[in-house]
Amino acid sequence: MDLSVNGQTHRLPEADVPPDMPLLWVLRDVLNLTGTKFGCGVAACGACTVHVDGLAVRSCVTPVGTVQGKPVRTIEALGTATQPHALQKAWVDHQVPQCGYCQSGMLMAAADLLAKNRNPSDADIDAAITNLCRCGTYPRIREAIKTAAKLLRSGGVAA
Ligand code: FES
Ligand code: FES
Repeated sequence: MDLSVNGQTHRLPEADVPPDMPLLWVLRDVLNLTGTKFGCGVAACGACTVHVDGLAVRSCVTPVGTVQGKPVRTIEALGTATQPHALQKAWVDHQVPQCGYCQSGMLMAAADLLAKNRNPSDADIDAAITNLCRCGTYPRIREAIKTAAKLLRSGGVAA
């Protein structure tokens, strides 16, 4: 199958990548994109969140066959070193991560939220970001999302 990830098309032989293989396995073990994390494997924690067709999905329960022909974006392509996403700038400003394990999933979920809502309230954030953080970084995540939203509303940063 052909899989488009971060703007690049990969031809994956079915012998190695059957259509029912979770997208997360393909990203990490076949394409070596290890920024996306494995937490629970049952769609409960959000550590594995990536974008498919611009929407946040939990890749641990997404069979790769269902995303064929749809663009996949992982944390590796959220921003670049020279052009970070507004969320990445805000994450640094607020020093959000502790252990960091949940953070790529948090950022991808937050990016989906900000693509739909450039001025989210606390309630909007709590409703949209259902990812789990064992380190309890939720208050800083909330503040960073609001800072990123402000940056996006003012223009001049990558979305
Ligand atoms: S690893 Fe996918 S939701 Fe936890
Ligand atoms: S920063 Fe450690 S789990 Fe979230």
